[in-house]
Amino acid sequence: MGEDTPANRMTYGNYLQLDSLLGLQDGPADGSALPCNDELHFIITHQAFELWFKQVNRELEEALNLMNLENVDEVSIPKIVHHLERCTEIFRLLAQQWKVMETLAPQDFLGFRDRLGTSSGFESWQMRTLEMLLGLRPEDRIGGMDPIAHNRKLHSEGKLSDEVMAELERMSSFPSLREVLTDWLARTPVHGISGNTDIMTEFVQSHIKTMSEHGESVIAHMIKIGHGDEETIRPRIEAGVESARDFLLPEGKVNQARAGLLFIESYRELPLLAWPRRLIDTIVELEESMLLFRSHHVRMVERMIGRRMGSGGSSGVDYLEMTLKYRIFTDLWAVRTLLVKRDILPDVENVEFYGFAVEN
Ligand code: HEM
Repeated sequence: MGEDTPANRMTYGNYLQLDSLLGLQDGPADGSALPCNDELHFIITHQAFELWFKQVNRELEEALNLMNLENVDEVSIPKIVHHLERCTEIFRLLAQQWKVMETLAPQDFLGFRDRLGTSSGFESWQMRTLEMLLGLRPEDRIGGMDPIAHNRKLHSEGKLSDEVMAELERMSSFPSLREVLTDWLARTPVHGISGNTDIMTEFVQSHIKTMSEHGESVIAHMIKIGHGDEETIRPRIEAGVESARDFLLPEGKVNQARAGLLFIESYRELPLLAWPRRLIDTIVELEESMLLFRSHHVRMVERMIGRRMGSGGSSGVDYLEMTLKYRIFTDLWAVRTLLVKRDILPDVENVEFYGFAVEN
């Protein structure tokens, strides 16, 4: 920093590099005509999204740095939650931002749509980066699309700068939030002890037994109140218990991350589990906000272009509707189906480990 003089005074424009920022809305740098008002609005809306994507990527990178450790420091959890909560709020804001896009009349969009050529949000590498950082894998995507391979191709064709490609490669070398979360959940102390397969197996088996017993009482109750017959109700209840078994004990062996997750969700009141539980809630909320963001985009697109093909060459709305099925944190959603009310769960052993005083 230089000397404090009026000439050196930091201004709003300097600090934000406003001249550069506001000089970037003239459309493609190929000498074509300046954008009309509607097209300016289209460009600014896209740029605003991309700025927010940049921030989301930074938040995720910070969260991953804190979480990608053998031992995640307890004081890091509130920090991770803070980073992820900001991402959620950004996605909530962006889900509303499609409304601004919708002030563009479909026919006015057609007035300049040809100028986009084959460009499309599909090529938003920042969006792909954030999906990767969260843990969306090529095999989870429609057509098994691999964003890194896709962007390497664009790069080799001179359509993506070296800097962007290097940044993408750097980000893709990180483990995803889904992966680090799974490792962290697998270390959850169950009944006060971490990493003990026998204790975890016993815990999940006892949970399945509780589910099954509770299922029997539900069947009896439903029949008693005339809400169906046993032949219809029993298979549904039993299928629920069976799928719980498959989830917790795939191929007969306990899945430690799922056992940890179930423990945290079942014994939410334990003081030591308060932040882990909050982290899980935050991640579910983040994924929910992304799903809503995607779904509002599709409806806006349908309103704008109907069922025609996308500028990126996809089937358009049909393609986008399929992306609404994307789920990254599948276990976090799935565990909800398995929960049972607290008062029929067995008590936690070694409860003092979780910060509860034991009365003598
Ligand atoms: C008039 C406005 C818009 C229309 C008609 C539109 C249409 C589409 C269509 C049809 C696709 C599917 C891919 C394709 O074939 O092109 C798509 C994908 C996408 N769009 Fe838009 N879009 C609009 C605005 C935006 C804005 C403002 C953003 C913000 C960055 C955006 C971000 C995306 C993203 C990230 C994808 C990829 C989705 C995925 O593959 O998961 N779109 N868009």
